[in-house]
Amino acid sequence: VRIPEQGLSREEVLQRLEEYRAHDAETRQGRAWGLVYDAGVRQVEDLAKQAYTDFLAINALDPTAFPSVLRIENDLVAMAAAHLQSGPEVVGNFTSGGTESCMLAVKTARDWARANRPEVAHPEVILGTTAHPAFHKGCHYLDVRPVLVDVDPVTFKVDPEAVAQAVSPNTIMIVGSAVSYAHGVVDPIRELSEIARRHGLLLHVDGCIGGFLLPYLRRLGASVPDFDFSVPGVTSMSMDWHKYGYAPKGASVVLYRDKALRKFQFYACASWPGYPIINPTIQSSRSGGPLAAAWAVVNFLGDAGYIELARRTLEATRKLVAGIGSIPSLRVLGVPESSLIAIASDDVNVFYVADAMRRRRWLISAQPQFGPSPASLHLIVTASSLGQVDGFLKDLAGSVEEARGSGSRLDPALREILANLDPAALTDEILDAMLGAAGVEWGSISESMAEVNTIMDSLPPAVREALLIAGGNTLFTPSP
Ligand SMILES: Cc1ncc(COP(=O)(O)O)c(C=O)c1O
Repeated sequence: VRIPEQGLSREEVLQRLEEYRAHDAETRQGRAWGLVYDAGVRQVEDLAKQAYTDFLAINALDPTAFPSVLRIENDLVAMAAAHLQSGPEVVGNFTSGGTESCMLAVKTARDWARANRPEVAHPEVILGTTAHPAFHKGCHYLDVRPVLVDVDPVTFKVDPEAVAQAVSPNTIMIVGSAVSYAHGVVDPIRELSEIARRHGLLLHVDGCIGGFLLPYLRRLGASVPDFDFSVPGVTSMSMDWHKYGYAPKGASVVLYRDKALRKFQFYACASWPGYPIINPTIQSSRSGGPLAAAWAVVNFLGDAGYIELARRTLEATRKLVAGIGSIPSLRVLGVPESSLIAIASDDVNVFYVADAMRRRRWLISAQPQFGPSPASLHLIVTASSLGQVDGFLKDLAGSVEEARGSGSRLDPALREILANLDPAALTDEILDAMLGAAGVEWGSISESMAEVNTIMDSLPPAVREALLIAGGNTLFTPSP
């Protein structure tokens, strides 16, 4: 593919793009149980598009040229801070997504420790094994060591005892989730706060997926443990507008207890002849689109709109949990405390269930086993899910029966071999052969992922990671 010699017509461009979308999952009407957060309200989507395009050309890099986006950002941060019960000192920034918010929390902690605890040569952050990979990624980029601690095998919440034991002279921060992605539960933030305060550590609460919804669920009568700035030891939080705020992608916020801590997030550079740089976040040039769209959606829905969306989400989640409990062979992992449901099975291969659901035009993902968490299906319930619950449960029951018939489990001997594969022994040739066998080739992934996922599930995490990188390296190949 080359830049076309002559430009195409507007109609042709749009038609070609539409053709590219032919195999995409549906984003509306509650058919996607992950990746997409649909309020199910058409005016929200239309308004977001309008605001996004109105601010598309604005560059938030320079708020002196575009004061509108500075004002929008400060409005959104104020709303997020109040929503999470902050005091007047809390500050923060708008970021491109949960990953950027979490990585920035790690960067701030690292630079805070460099200034305040110079004796720490090799900083460590304590993470439950259920913490989002955004923290691993932050540690990886920033040369901070992630120290993983177990979660309780029944509740899937971080074990505070294990955290207390993991604290070392190098620890700079503890991370808790509210809620965790994989099981949708709130870590014991009060206990983590006590440990953090006892040792003079920072405590980040990752509310990317749960932080916006939980206060509404509490107001609707659900039991929600303390998780936000009302807990004294919480020093920073992340929360995504582009999840349960129902804003378009590219919208999150990271908050700090005060400016004295937040200043370590900033980056400035005046050591060149060009414009002096002051970047609060990772991006430098950035479109005003996501900011304006998030602001528009939040102001359009308002508190009353959000509580209604939360009510629908809660009702859908409760119906699903009850319905899943009555499908033979399925069980819900832990007790979901928000809107995420992990579903395991002792006698059916869940990866085949996910494929069977995909064939029925439902997008659901499957999670491989890790630690005490068995392989599971993962549902992100949104306000648009409510109208789909009955049809979804019927198809889920049908898919389980289909998978019972067709879904194979790996031979235990092969599983044993795979589980003991040494990542150091994997050459690029072996990885490519494995990918070829799995049907991963340029620009496409097979729609049927069950075999691949079943094998991935048996591999040690380091081998899974090597395969994922090799797979990415294959998929992202320039178009011929
Ligand atoms: C708890 C949690 N943290 C962080 C993230 C990363 O967010 P993003 O995908 O917006 O980068 C997610 C994503 O689902 C999440 O659930």
